[in-house]
Amino acid sequence: PEIEYLDYEAVVERDWAVDDEDLFEKAAAADLEPPEYGSFEANEAEYILEAAEARGHEWPFSCRAGACANCAGIVHDGAVEMDMQQILSDEEVADQGIRLTCVSRPASDEVKLVYNVKHLDSLQDRVI
Ligand code: FES
Repeated sequence: PEIEYLDYEAVVERDWAVDDEDLFEKAAAADLEPPEYGSFEANEAEYILEAAEARGHEWPFSCRAGACANCAGIVHDGAVEMDMQQILSDEEVADQGIRLTCVSRPASDEVKLVYNVKHLDSLQDRVI
């Protein structure tokens, strides 16, 4: 699968909304470059955080075990399967599309993911 990624801080800096349907089109049109915006190939057996690291990306993490929110991302498009976790609420997972990238694998050919969403106000109580 192809992971197209966008840094949450780049979204905030430009006053974009993380739930904007056209977010990734805006990023592409704005000529953002890695590490803010780009893509890489991952395989379905890999956790997304590990796949990013294996390709030279430095994404935030702490526990690497689904027990904090440091590695959180928002799935903008595509499917991502997450292992058992007890940090995120059902609403955050189902409605906001938040996933813990250290325990999540790509489950569609293309995934658009906003990484670095540990800076969301709503996650501050779970960031280490
Ligand atoms: Fe803690 Fe992923 S690094 S949940």
